[in-house]
Amino acid sequence: MERVYIFDTTLRDGEQAAGCHLSTVEKIQIAGALGRLGVDVIEAGFPVSSPGDFNSVVEISKAVKGPVICALTRCLKSDIDVAVEALRYASEKRIHTGIGTSDYHIKYKFETTRKEILRRAVESVRYARRFVPDVEFYCEDAGRTDNQFLAEVVEAVIKAGATVVNIPDTTGYCLPNEFGEKIAYLKGNVKGIDNVILSVHCHNDLGMATACAFEGVRNGARQVECTVNGVGERAGNTAMEEICMILKCHKNLGLDTGIVTRNIVKTSHLVSNLMNSPVQANKAVVGRNAFSHSSGIHQDGVLKHKETYEIIDPKDVGADKSNIVLTARSGRAALKTRLKRLGVDVSDSKMVDSIYSKFLKLADRQTYITDDDIVAISGIDHNAVMAVQILEHKVSSALGDGAVAYLKLSVKGSEKEATAVGNGPVDASIKALKQILGVDMTLQEFTIQSVDRGSDDIGKVYMQVLYNDGLYYGFSASSDIVLASLQAYIDAVNQFI
Ligand code: KIV
Ligand code: ZN
Repeated sequence: MERVYIFDTTLRDGEQAAGCHLSTVEKIQIAGALGRLGVDVIEAGFPVSSPGDFNSVVEISKAVKGPVICALTRCLKSDIDVAVEALRYASEKRIHTGIGTSDYHIKYKFETTRKEILRRAVESVRYARRFVPDVEFYCEDAGRTDNQFLAEVVEAVIKAGATVVNIPDTTGYCLPNEFGEKIAYLKGNVKGIDNVILSVHCHNDLGMATACAFEGVRNGARQVECTVNGVGERAGNTAMEEICMILKCHKNLGLDTGIVTRNIVKTSHLVSNLMNSPVQANKAVVGRNAFSHSSGIHQDGVLKHKETYEIIDPKDVGADKSNIVLTARSGRAALKTRLKRLGVDVSDSKMVDSIYSKFLKLADRQTYITDDDIVAISGIDHNAVMAVQILEHKVSSALGDGAVAYLKLSVKGSEKEATAVGNGPVDASIKALKQILGVDMTLQEFTIQSVDRGSDDIGKVYMQVLYNDGLYYGFSASSDIVLASLQAYIDAVNQFI
């Protein structure tokens, strides 16, 4: 297998996403996770841009050993000086310097000439090489740069000492085949190109970032710049999990990354939580629905043999298991499996038929059917099925003063109660629940989505709870989002209690 290097820019380009600011501590946390994920390079920031970015590069350089730590600069000596200073504690370091090479950038941003751009590029690479042996050069807006001029720049920076050359499709404009041809053109027309690593950095403005990066790799690029969950400026960057899984699934390409794929989902959750950036449900590889089978035909197939509808084993990316979601399109096979899990004897096919017809009626009105719904329509004894149920729940909160929750539960038939304080009503309710159950579990993901608009809207809550190394999913929906949150937690707890 030939190696494709993963250059992660979640902490630099990813953090440029609107509303995704991270503190230094959060960046260190993510950088640590990226190290465990096995990325080759971490672009830790753009040190000259702010004291916060400078400090993050310093602290990440101290805290994370293993991947190369990289700092971004413009083609300015003063930027490079600051980057060198920020990287002083890194064991393996890289300076990523560059300039716009398209006529749009040359004419409108720099108001200069191609010749001058070439001069600044060469000067910066030479200057950076005085401080570090590993210098990457980016040709900003290479996607819209004339190939002949691009080749001239790339050849000149290689001669000046660049070790990696980055070809970004900064505006996400290129078609995948065009981008692949650009890389092939450079491979065929630049002296010294085989002595450096050619890198691709694609943006997702037209939804083609991963396709373009893949075409780049197919045509000779051996480094992909990407972000976890595809976060990044505007519509984002190539998603790390997508490019890695493409190469892993298509082994015949003879290409692979060093990514520890079973850490993908947990890193995705960490980035999503810390960046306050929910992952869309149908996002490839890491979306909540990526391994959920909803239609009857698919569910039947997956229950018989997973590979009928699954090309990735969920465990390979650290997703717990495939998830069968009961909806109006579900068939008897999925319903029977759920009934069995709930402890219902499904040997009587007439009884299953009758539950199924009630289920379809309910599913026509409701997007998701919960275990509580199944229990209700099958007429089974709730207490016998759900180990934990809410009997009473009260919360009181005061502005800026936290909250108190009182909770009475039925746990395997016996009544238990607790009162807890928290920094908000959900926190207090979950603390009361934990107090009653006395079980060591952690909330991994917590998403609330409104169904409609308006203050009387239903809030759908989705939670992931970690218990004994297993992830358990809980859903609930209610116009009272505190109650819905508690119910979703209990829904997850009921899977392992
Ligand atoms: O998209 C881009 O061109 C960039 C460069 C700064 C590498 O992010
Ligand atoms: Zn970018």
